[in-house]
Amino acid sequence: MMTLDELRAEIEELKRDLHKRLALIDDDESIGTFRVDFLGRKGRVSQLFKHLGKLDSSDRSAAGQLLNGLKETATAAIAEREAEAQRERLAKQLDMERVDMSLPGTRGSFGHLHPLTRVQHEIESIFMRMGFSVAAGPEIETEYYNFDALNIPIEHPARADWDTFYIDENTLLRPHTSPVQIRVMEQTEPPVRIICPGRCYRRDTQDATHSPVFHQIELLWVEEGLSLAHLKYVLEVFTQEFFGEGYEMLFSGDYFPFTEPSVQVHIKAPGASDWLEIMGAGMVDPAVLSAVGYDPEIYTGFAFGLGIERMAMLKYGIDDIRVFLINDLRFIRQF
Ligand code: FA5
Repeated sequence: MMTLDELRAEIEELKRDLHKRLALIDDDESIGTFRVDFLGRKGRVSQLFKHLGKLDSSDRSAAGQLLNGLKETATAAIAEREAEAQRERLAKQLDMERVDMSLPGTRGSFGHLHPLTRVQHEIESIFMRMGFSVAAGPEIETEYYNFDALNIPIEHPARADWDTFYIDENTLLRPHTSPVQIRVMEQTEPPVRIICPGRCYRRDTQDATHSPVFHQIELLWVEEGLSLAHLKYVLEVFTQEFFGEGYEMLFSGDYFPFTEPSVQVHIKAPGASDWLEIMGAGMVDPAVLSAVGYDPEIYTGFAFGLGIERMAMLKYGIDDIRVFLINDLRFIRQF
């Protein structure tokens, strides 16, 4: 037998225990277990309900109210603890993820352009200001564009100098950017005024001024009335803009099957004792103009192929071309 007062005392005891224990747990799993332990079918509150039958019948209604009150209190307290635990977790997480905008940032390391790319851009921008546009052509080129269309037939000895790395019977890695001249003229009516930067390949043995992979900028201007004097003037303006004061320029005779006459251009840096050859150039051979359907009686033109590495060497006082390719950061970071 149990009296109503005893039951009331047990309920009060259970309530105290409820709040004490709830305060100690904060994760969902423990709260879940606690709920089963308290309110589950075999839980502590259900156990108390069993006493109802043992009570005096006059006390049962009051006891029922007390027990239901306990059940409601426990349900609400557990739900409140659950919500509170969730708020605490969120606050903790937000605190951890808080970004303090006043802290100094971490500086990433940025790369920068390779000196050869910078020189190429600089050369392009000078010629673009003069009215030339930039064209492009493939690095894997056919024998036709690389040789035949440039007036270098199969039996011509110049062909041997420029034979490089063949991909198959009639395609090879281009040894110069001159084939782009032909590709552009085939697609365009004169006047033509283009430059074409690009990578070239040769079976040259590596030394201080030669690399088997290097870069050229080709220039082609075809219009009525052009002469070698125009070529010379364009080069003077260009070298003055690119190098500034104190550099000297020298022309000497040369031979290319696709230009007539042909020249070589050399530059001497201020204070240097040696000249460095920077380009081959000349007046476009009439046979080349005819082959692309231009009338050589009306049009004349000039062209050159300029070595980008050599221009960078002269500008920055570099005496060995190999430094451009060895990826030594101590070198690269100076630019
Ligand atoms: C030619 O390649 C001709 N296509 C240039 C040309 C174009 C002449 C248009 C007439 C009309 P050449 O082989 O001289 O010419 O090369 C031109 C420039 O490319 C050289 O002056 C040099 O600056 C650069 N060059 C050539 N071979 C190498 C190499 N192995 N390493 C680095 N630079 C090179």
